[in-house]
Amino acid sequence: MASWRTMALAMLVISSFFSFSSYASSHDFLVCLSAAIPEQLLFTRSSPSFASVLASSVRNPRFLTPTTVTPLCIVTPTNASHVQAAVVCGRRHGVRLRVRSGGHDYEGLSYRSARAEQPFALVDLAGLRSVRVSRRAATAWVDSGATLGELYYAIAKASGRLAFPAGLCPTVGVGGHLSGGGFGMLLRKYGLATDHVVDAVLVDAEGRLLDRNAMGRDVFWAIRGGGVGGSFGVVLSWRVKLVAVPPTVTAFTVAKSVEDGVVDILTKWQEVAPALPEDLLVRVIAEGQVASFQSLYLGTCDALLPVMRRHFPELGVNRGHCKEMTWLQSVSYIYMGGGASVEDILNRTAVEDAVFSKATSDYVRESIPRDVWAEIFTSWLAKPNAGLMILDPYGGKMAGVPDSETPFPHRRGVLYNIQYMNFWRAAGEGAAQTAWVRDLYAFMEPHVSKHPREAYANYRDLDLGENVVGGGGIMSYEASRVWGEKYYKGNFRRLAMGKAKIDPDNYFRNEQSIPPLGDQLILTNMTVAYVDHID
Ligand SMILES: Cc1cc2nc3c(=O)[nH]c(=O)nc-3n(C[C@H](O)[C@H](O)[C@H](O)COP(=O)(O)OP(=O)(O)OC[C@H]3O[C@@H](n4cnc5c(N)ncnc54)[C@H](O)[C@@H]3O)c2cc1C
Ligand SMILES: *[C@@H]1O[C@H](CO)[C@@H](O)[C@H](O)[C@H]1NC(C)=O
Ligand SMILES: *[C@@H]1O[C@H](CO)[C@@H](O)[C@H](O)[C@H]1NC(C)=O
Ligand SMILES: *[C@@H]1O[C@H](CO)[C@@H](O)[C@H](O)[C@H]1NC(C)=O
Repeated sequence: MASWRTMALAMLVISSFFSFSSYASSHDFLVCLSAAIPEQLLFTRSSPSFASVLASSVRNPRFLTPTTVTPLCIVTPTNASHVQAAVVCGRRHGVRLRVRSGGHDYEGLSYRSARAEQPFALVDLAGLRSVRVSRRAATAWVDSGATLGELYYAIAKASGRLAFPAGLCPTVGVGGHLSGGGFGMLLRKYGLATDHVVDAVLVDAEGRLLDRNAMGRDVFWAIRGGGVGGSFGVVLSWRVKLVAVPPTVTAFTVAKSVEDGVVDILTKWQEVAPALPEDLLVRVIAEGQVASFQSLYLGTCDALLPVMRRHFPELGVNRGHCKEMTWLQSVSYIYMGGGASVEDILNRTAVEDAVFSKATSDYVRESIPRDVWAEIFTSWLAKPNAGLMILDPYGGKMAGVPDSETPFPHRRGVLYNIQYMNFWRAAGEGAAQTAWVRDLYAFMEPHVSKHPREAYANYRDLDLGENVVGGGGIMSYEASRVWGEKYYKGNFRRLAMGKAKIDPDNYFRNEQSIPPLGDQLILTNMTVAYVDHID
């Protein structure tokens, strides 16, 4: 016993000496970076453009306040060697990195730390954003810093019959999105964005540049859905398979209010939407006393109408609802409305960036009873500071992919995903809006998935739990299961084992990164126990 304790204490001392505590030398780190990276790609806190570069892709100003823990410098790489240098210098001088692609992280973890204790540098990939489409092979190489809008645009310009199944918001970054799954209007036909990744280029914690073969099966598996915490390294680019779309698609939106009988319609939608033909996706945005059924059909209005009459007559879809267009036009139409042009999806600042928000998510595997929907409308959505609920139906292709195929486990048996969101406009507000999301989440518990209650990793929420770092900077796998199994279910363990292989020292870490699970597990328990004891 005593010798175990002595060893634990020794490990504590050794690991805190070599790890990233107060010994970190940000000055030496900057000297190291300057030797490898051109000056104009480095921004220290004293640079005149530091604040604007930091803010450039921030979507949620909640994490740009005077008390936000911001990076000690920002690197804006223009090629892979700059990213490799940042990792090598960071390792050498005890400075961690956070990686940002599109900056849409719901908790801002790509550019801020929830804790003040450790200096970190930001690697902002916005300058690495090329998209190279091969029409013949129906594939594309896309850099992480590209936006979904840039990817969609490049594909559709190469061929009007090709598309990519990813999220709705065109300013979302490819890097984070593919790392966590990624779904949008083509989900039911083609599954997740990350299901279409066939190769990737990763900079690992040693600063090596690895492709699919070099990184190995476990890591290539892990980065396709389990990488949204940046846990496995920095993915620079992705090779993706493209999918086929017809020349004409049909978008339609039908709004139903409580007076129109929305409670009954929505109760029925839960069974209907996940079972519709794969060419059709009907999602719901419930706000106030109205639900909008926002839809995309991969075909013409003529072909759509009989499908809707057969499967969902309650929605009353008629020719007047149909908007026929190309798939690319549907991207701007669905996210930005009829006034937007397809070029607007290239605009990185097109979304209102002054909106503060809080969100979280659930998965539903059994229909929620009608009386619960009635209560949601009469009580929750009617409150003065209410937000909205977005329901995305699964089924189709999603039901045919085993849960272990990728880290993303919410597949067979899922009826739909719920996203709870609320917004406010000024710093200092938001308490009531945040409470609404948390209280509704608590209310929903009996009605959603259980053991674990599932959540979508790309809708990151630190309320679900954070890593617990014990003595010597060692992260507890057991404690991380609280949030990790909500995102990844049984795949969390395999992710943690993959992490131990590629980054055993846990260099790439944050509040919700995958902890390494390997030989050090026993030590982890011992070290934490010892520290608990002397506290
Ligand atoms: C307005 C809005 C709309 C959205 N719509 C959808 C939607 O329709 N469908 C959907 O599925 N999701 C949607 N999302 C969620 C979105 O998919 C995630 O927030 C996604 O992680 C954002 O990726 P990013 O590159 O923009 O974010 P970032 O903030 O840059 O990164 C997110 C996380 O991934 C890590 N990361 C980023 N790039 C890399 C990289 N290259 N290598 C390793 N790690 C990296 C970051 O460190 C961070 O932990 C939406 C989000 C917002 C804000
Ligand atoms: C990357 O940029 C550096 C300049 O910082 C240059 O010396 C190097 O040749 C570039 N590497 C590649 C592969 O383009
Ligand atoms: C992008 O959108 C913003 C906000 O709507 C607008 O002010 C700006 O002019 C747009 N930029 C381009 C290039 O269209
Ligand atoms: C580590 O601790 C956790 C909880 O304290 C326990 O469940 C687990 O079995 C321990 N693991 C080992 C290897 O001792």
